[in-house]
Amino acid sequence: MKKRSILLNGMAIVSAVVAVLFIAAAPHEEVHIPKEEWSFQGFFGKFKQDELKAGFQVYKDVCSACHSMNLMSYRNLEQIGFTADEVKEIAASVQVTDGPNEAGEMFERAGKASDAFKAPFPNEQAARAANNGALPPDLSLIARSRGGKGFLGYEGADYIHAILTGYVEPPAGFKLGEGMNYNEYFRGHQIAMPQPLSGDELEKQSHDVAVFLTWAGEPNLESRHLTGLKAVLFLVVFTLLFYAVKRKVWSKIH
Ligand code: HEC
Repeated sequence: MKKRSILLNGMAIVSAVVAVLFIAAAPHEEVHIPKEEWSFQGFFGKFKQDELKAGFQVYKDVCSACHSMNLMSYRNLEQIGFTADEVKEIAASVQVTDGPNEAGEMFERAGKASDAFKAPFPNEQAARAANNGALPPDLSLIARSRGGKGFLGYEGADYIHAILTGYVEPPAGFKLGEGMNYNEYFRGHQIAMPQPLSGDELEKQSHDVAVFLTWAGEPNLESRHLTGLKAVLFLVVFTLLFYAVKRKVWSKIH
């Protein structure tokens, strides 16, 4: 009798815990982020240089009008296949504020490879004022902070791709705030970012810029994969050696 009631209590506790976990998990089910194919996924995953370069171009031509990438410098672009001369040219296409000079004044000059990416707004207030009160987040680590590592069941790149391709007509009766846009994949479906990409290239550009932003958040992904591979090889060789030694040692005893 006693044993049985312990068992029953146990079962009741377990089901209560399971129920609580389900309820806690439920709100996340609200938006389902579709999974895409990414070349960088998996143990042997690698970034594709043409996607990275095209993705940077999308960032530069479109996203950089509102989003900073403060952790990136122009010279980092050499890591994705731009030549030193191309990097110089890209950097020189922006004017940056430097100084103070000997007269104590700030001055404008052409960008250099060693400069950080130029931010579109001088401060947060200016960024909000231009964006209906919302702050366009810095994109340096965005792929990591939005579902990176597939920990939520999707990659940061899946999320970025989903947001960029998720602008649709709001369902009938949906109350959209002033200056807001409806997005299928954004929490609450109301986003202050106006649809940045559209047209025939929407799918490709969304894909490429998501790849570029993933790389920006984790430029060492490939060498990390390589280290993992080396560790596994080491363990395999070590195990074989160990086994050979064991056989040798025991063969004398039998
Ligand atoms: C006209 C300005 C503007 C442009 C251009 C723009 N964005 Fe945004 N973006 C915003 C604003 C404002 C927000 C904040 C939205 C909010 O919180 O409602 C935002 C938010 C985001 C978010 C975060 C969503 C979240 O989960 O919080 C991502 C990712 C993003 N933008 C990516 C991009 C990419 C990639 C591009 C280029 C293809 C781009 N944006 C172009 C203004 C812009």
